[in-house]
Amino acid sequence: MSSIKNYIETNKERLINELIEILKIPSISADSAYKQDILKTADVVKLALEKAGCDLVEICETPGNPIVYGEKIIDPKLPTILVYGHYDVQPADPIELWESAPFEPIIKKTELHPEGAIFARGSADDKGQFYMHVKALEYMTSTNSLPCNIKFMIEGEEEIGSSSLGWFVKRNHDKLKNDIILISDTGMIAKDTPSITTGLRGLSYVEVEVTGANRDLHSGLYGGAVANPINVLCQMIASLHDENNHITIPHFYDKVQELSNEERAEMAKAPFSLDDYKKSLNINDIHGEKGYTTNERNAIRPTLDVNGIWGGYTGEGAKTVIPSKAFAKISMRLVPNQNWEEITELFTKYFESIAPKSVTIKVSAHHGGQAYVTPIDNIGYQAASKAYEITFGKKPIPMRSGGSIPIVALFEDELKSKSILMGFGLDSDAIHSPNEHYGIFNYLKGIETIPYFFQNFVDLQK
Ligand code: BES
Ligand code: MN
Ligand code: MN
Repeated sequence: MSSIKNYIETNKERLINELIEILKIPSISADSAYKQDILKTADVVKLALEKAGCDLVEICETPGNPIVYGEKIIDPKLPTILVYGHYDVQPADPIELWESAPFEPIIKKTELHPEGAIFARGSADDKGQFYMHVKALEYMTSTNSLPCNIKFMIEGEEEIGSSSLGWFVKRNHDKLKNDIILISDTGMIAKDTPSITTGLRGLSYVEVEVTGANRDLHSGLYGGAVANPINVLCQMIASLHDENNHITIPHFYDKVQELSNEERAEMAKAPFSLDDYKKSLNINDIHGEKGYTTNERNAIRPTLDVNGIWGGYTGEGAKTVIPSKAFAKISMRLVPNQNWEEITELFTKYFESIAPKSVTIKVSAHHGGQAYVTPIDNIGYQAASKAYEITFGKKPIPMRSGGSIPIVALFEDELKSKSILMGFGLDSDAIHSPNEHYGIFNYLKGIETIPYFFQNFVDLQK
């Protein structure tokens, strides 16, 4: 048995229990009520990095949530790998749909995970995944096998747009200097099919407010004579897609990077069953932009979705009312070459232009980020590919993901370094959903694979 496998086998229970302790803290970044838990989590991460062998660990204050920075520099002449992750998590609601409490982690066996999975908010996104790197460092320092310098940057605002991290990165080019950035905050194709994420979509997130009359009105006395902002908002939103599910915002697609037929054919080789996909979601049919496959629709094509919509009376029983206001939160996933600020502006202008005179419109931008693609002909990718080959016995498949980690494009702009996305999650992990879980297999496999990345990355420089 390899030394790392042996280490994991010997320390398995502890590795799992330590993660469980971190999962107990509700570090929800979206809700300021959890600020103390955010700070507590940052402290726990700091302690974990110190114990794992970092020589210097700091809690770096920002305008928002603190960033935990750690490093172990063994020789300034050797390469430096910067590990990025996030200790903040999504809110747990709707809480009633959880089968166990989101911040009381439990291990349950599932059909896919007969060895067990840890159920808790943040288990896969991203506490379980960044912690694999902490434990991989622990292994490397305890066996004296860390082959290069390592830096950690674990932030607390990823789920709300990473704005403080942008602020921090811009001010700390020297501190963060590195040869490659390593991130585990994505997924892989299947438990037995490793993959390396080579693309992330960008994001533009806006909130719209539609106002009709200056107050809520009796829907009998005024109904039919005054605009109902909810009706108007629904019509406006519906008109943002045409009959082919193409987005109707003028110039929205102007800069979209189209893939060549070869690239599309390459993508189509990844294992995928439409039947299983439909079954896993309990849907009778799929939906999406005409002319593209499911895997293209959710990775290489831009989209527009309503994430939430509200207004009027939603309490018990019936209330007859024409509300004064209606609201929606809308996200657009973007692909390479689309600029999120430009898209936000295109959306705003168009949305205002299609509003009838009977209402007034306010659009406010939340946050956004650019898409990211990495080439596969660099040392970082090869180091990752070889690492998976050793631990899974299979070459990983390059895969573009539909999700977003907006800060990755900023890393490239500011620090001039590439990010390698070695994610160990699965689509079935239910991230951002009730009953989020992370397979113990995935967690331990990650810890096993990471040290090989380090060694391969150093060896490939020679
Ligand atoms: N880890 C996810 C992103 C992800 C998950 C990428 C799986 C690929 C595969 C990250 O925490 C996330 O949720 N990002 C947000 C964007 C952010 C600005 C709120 C997203 O994609 O919605
Ligand atoms: Mn994440
Ligand atoms: Mn997330």
